[in-house]
Amino acid sequence: MKHLIILLMLGVIPAWAQNAKIVRGPYLQNFTSTSGVIRWRTDVPTDSRVYYGKALPKNTQSVYDAHLTTEHEIKITRLIPNQTYFYSIASPQVLAHQFVKTLPKLGSNQAIRIWALGDFGTGSKNQLLVRDAVKNFVKQKPIDAWIWLGDNAYGSGKDVEYQKNVFEVYQDDFFSNTKLWPNPGNHDYKDNPDSKKLAYYQNFTMPMNGEAGGLKSGTEAYYSFNLGNVHFVSVNSEETSEDGTSIIDSTGQQAQWLKRDLAANKLPWTIVYFHEPPYSKGSHDTDTDEEMTKVRQQIVPIFDRYRVDLVLAGHSHSYERTKPIRGHLGQNDSFEAHKHVLAKEIKPNHYVVDKSSAQGTIYIVAGSGGQLGKSQASFPLKSSAFSTVALGGSLILDVEGKRLVGQWLGSDGKVHDEFSIHK
Ligand SMILES: [Fe+2]
Repeated sequence: MKHLIILLMLGVIPAWAQNAKIVRGPYLQNFTSTSGVIRWRTDVPTDSRVYYGKALPKNTQSVYDAHLTTEHEIKITRLIPNQTYFYSIASPQVLAHQFVKTLPKLGSNQAIRIWALGDFGTGSKNQLLVRDAVKNFVKQKPIDAWIWLGDNAYGSGKDVEYQKNVFEVYQDDFFSNTKLWPNPGNHDYKDNPDSKKLAYYQNFTMPMNGEAGGLKSGTEAYYSFNLGNVHFVSVNSEETSEDGTSIIDSTGQQAQWLKRDLAANKLPWTIVYFHEPPYSKGSHDTDTDEEMTKVRQQIVPIFDRYRVDLVLAGHSHSYERTKPIRGHLGQNDSFEAHKHVLAKEIKPNHYVVDKSSAQGTIYIVAGSGGQLGKSQASFPLKSSAFSTVALGGSLILDVEGKRLVGQWLGSDGKVHDEFSIHK
């Protein structure tokens, strides 16, 4: 190793490193308005270099790390908000002409687009069709944040499954230019009994110190970030915290952080996402599942209290969108529209929140990004505004100023559900 370092210092790259190939990535993590992390993997250990700049062909700035690794992670800083940067990887295989756009300034009202995808990494035909539908749909208006709703790599979240069913599937169209904010599901947690050793945590870089906005969580298991005028919270329905509690304990470590984070948020929109939903009649039944029942009983009151706009989840391989609801903690049969729906609906599925009207939270399950599932006999939920298990798909959210529009895009390329909230 000592000799290798001396050779590198002299600018001599050994033959085996010269032949190194990029076998994963690049992919983009923790992007804010002024910084971001670019990651990639090589087949043999090499040093890491990223060239970047505002215009091609001159990528005038560079960041170099001499440490030899196959898991490359380079942070670029002092960027300008809302700016497209071109970047090249050199490690030493050169991968040129990639691009990434930094986030708008915090609190900016400019239009942003979010892609929420759940239960996808199966290698199925449905996964490819959902991907291609999104690729076509976003041609005119690209994605600013790609959020994952868990069960990203089947069947056990192993690195080889991430490689085959996730990185290889989305690399060409999305990974090199789409800023990713992941969330794990129960399948991702099957990789290793010690959650610190999961491929999920080896593969991704999450903002644990509040560096992307929101309150410091101190763990990559759950985190928050800000994008434009939207506050996002990635909760973790699978993790056991250091105090031995999980999200189903409203006084536990994660729930306490969630409450403090939501209380501190000053942005007008709040979107929370995690894997196991509080309301579903898809492939999982939230009336009979103990874990999801507890999420509903223990955590929904937190969403009610802090007026979360949207809660997104996966786990059930369905698309299920509720009406804006509040205080519905019992089983499906206990739902009463006059009691639990809190909304001013100006036309079907289009809601206005103004001084005279508060609004409940819309709960969405979008878990058919690769999987396709069955439903319970009592499907859909009594609180449902639109639900389907007939087709796979994923959710596109557009937020501009005081207006949020959600569209569920099917694997057939058509929008099957649309709703909006105007504040
Ligand atoms: Fe799941």
